[in-house]
Amino acid sequence: MIPAETVDLVLHTAVIEDVVGDYVELKKSGSGFRGLSPFTNEKTPSFYVLPEKGIFKCFSSDKGGSVVTFLMELEKLSFPQAIKQLAERYGIEIEEKEISPEQQQERTERESLLAVNAWAQGWLTQQLHDSKEGQAIGLSYFESRGFRADTLKTFKIGYCPDSWDAMSTAASDAGYQLERLLALGLAKEKDGKPWDFFKGRVMFPIRDVTGRTIAFGGRTLSTEKKVAKYFNSPESPLYHKGDVLFGLHLAKPAITKEDRVLLVEGYTDVMALHQAGIEHVVSSSGTALTVNQIKLIRRYTKNITVLFDGDAAGIRASLRGIDLLLAEGLNVHVVLFPDGDDPDSYSKKVPSETLRAHIADEAKDFVAFKLNLLTQEAADDPVKRSEMIHSILGSVSVIPDAIQQGVYLKLAAEELGMSEDVLQSEINKIIRSRLVEEQKAEKREEFRKQRERADSSAPPDLHVPPDWSDAQDPLDENSLDLPLRDAERHRTIIERDLVRRMLRFGSVPFTPQNSGEEEPVALAFAHYVIEYMESLNFEVKDALLAKIYAVFMEHHERELVPELDAFMKHPDPEIQAFVVGAVVDKYEVSKRWEEVHQIYAAREEDLLNKALMDSLHLLKLNDNRQEIAGLQEQLTALATAIDNGEESAIAGMRELLIKRKELDEQKRKITTYFGTAILP
Ligand code: CTP
Ligand code: MN
Repeated sequence: MIPAETVDLVLHTAVIEDVVGDYVELKKSGSGFRGLSPFTNEKTPSFYVLPEKGIFKCFSSDKGGSVVTFLMELEKLSFPQAIKQLAERYGIEIEEKEISPEQQQERTERESLLAVNAWAQGWLTQQLHDSKEGQAIGLSYFESRGFRADTLKTFKIGYCPDSWDAMSTAASDAGYQLERLLALGLAKEKDGKPWDFFKGRVMFPIRDVTGRTIAFGGRTLSTEKKVAKYFNSPESPLYHKGDVLFGLHLAKPAITKEDRVLLVEGYTDVMALHQAGIEHVVSSSGTALTVNQIKLIRRYTKNITVLFDGDAAGIRASLRGIDLLLAEGLNVHVVLFPDGDDPDSYSKKVPSETLRAHIADEAKDFVAFKLNLLTQEAADDPVKRSEMIHSILGSVSVIPDAIQQGVYLKLAAEELGMSEDVLQSEINKIIRSRLVEEQKAEKREEFRKQRERADSSAPPDLHVPPDWSDAQDPLDENSLDLPLRDAERHRTIIERDLVRRMLRFGSVPFTPQNSGEEEPVALAFAHYVIEYMESLNFEVKDALLAKIYAVFMEHHERELVPELDAFMKHPDPEIQAFVVGAVVDKYEVSKRWEEVHQIYAAREEDLLNKALMDSLHLLKLNDNRQEIAGLQEQLTALATAIDNGEESAIAGMRELLIKRKELDEQKRKITTYFGTAILP
């Protein structure tokens, strides 16, 4: 069972036009997209995607619904399969709701793995400080690089002896299982025997925000080119490289105090700055920052300074990654170190005050820095220059704050000697093409808000096409005269009309007219419908419509009106198709919704009162017809009985005739409402 929250998350993360776009060539159309139906062989596109609503509607097949329904229909998947496929695509983890024994075991396993790492960290530290080999090789190495003992202790640095299985053997002696060492990448297996993966390396524990050791980086002390400088623990149940920042656990208090984080490239840079008293520093593990890492930073501060060692190639490679920082709303500064120096080596050359001053004084605003760097590089080459301008505008365009973006635009215009207008229109182009992603984010935000104000009545989200009634208008005089055997079908038409109106106008504030009350209260339309239906003992009988109506009832109990979302979560594609059909039509998708709304909404909403009264009367009439039909059958049976000389049937006949008269009277009243004389 996939938890409801996960289904919600998937629905609100998935970008319907992206997913559909894999199968259908979509073109922008109004506020949505249009293309050729993947369900039929149509030649004229009548397949629409409405990103704002997160739905698609295919007019040639009449299918419609959420992105999940789309995959179900097209890939012939079950609801959970479609959810899982999307979850995978968007990196959403699906956690099954109840903790199964396997999950419990998984948790226990995590705990066990953490215990192994904690033991390993302790053992490795001990090797560094207390063993002859550790002291001679590891400790002296750090000493030669100018690292003090207290720094090594703070970072819990260790040493793995240069032996095939010293660590594996020690682990086994201490009672730890080999499988766990293998799972954590501390040991590898060859010919059925374990060997120590990090043998002969100095060890940097990588810790989570709470300080637990979740992985290791191991640096070789060999200068041989062929040997990789660092080995890092593989991904494991404990360690996801992209979610962790080296040093964050130690840096947290300083980051908060300084309201800034320094980002460096290597483990040793973090340690060196720490040693110099600069503690608000972290590094990723040798890769570009991931969004998750940035979000981790964002929890503590909005300000980041990226420290680069001086080589231009390295800086260029990092530029793109920095756009990600800007896009997440961080204020980005950069600091360069003199050629050939990185923060570590520089920190060992100068007193810590000088280092501190360098970081503070040399910090340049990133956009200004990038402008400078690229302008110099492009010089007089026009192709390079235009590439460079696009690159700059790309950076500026991701900045979420409009004012800040404006400031940078002005700066760029000045530096480049170009008009702000030209640059602005370029940026608009870039932004427009990114709109899709932004809509996705908005949708998520909206969803969060919606959850927060769960009890207030949400503003109506209506689409009001001009021809909202069915082709088979139940108010059509002829339809009132349907033969009795058609009563059931007729009822479905009435119910469909009512449910469609609930879907379209459900949350419109509604005040019933002629309600008999002095000051009728305005409630959401759907609430009134349900109140009336209940007080009149009416049911929705059609199986499909009853399911939709049930969703309204459920919400009604909590004084809510379901929005489109509530139905788009429904695993039944038929329901989705109906709901989408009710709220979307061709006229609407081909025109801007605001226009349509302005023109029609007011008038159609005015008609709601009449429409509701009509529906209720039609339902009553339908009940009445079916009752009369039933009565008629009984009367016929009794008549036969009387013909056969069963005197006792006469009393029953009399009773039925009285009832029949009542029903006829009721029918007369209802038809008076419609102003139509109806023949029996
Ligand atoms: N790195 C890695 N694997 C490598 C090289 C580097 O994982 N083969 C990662 C490590 O996280 C390292 C970072 O990239 O800390 C930066 O690399 P580098 O500057 O080469 O290493 P330093 O940490 O600065 O190490 P040292 O100063 O000892 O050379
Ligand atoms: Mn280094």
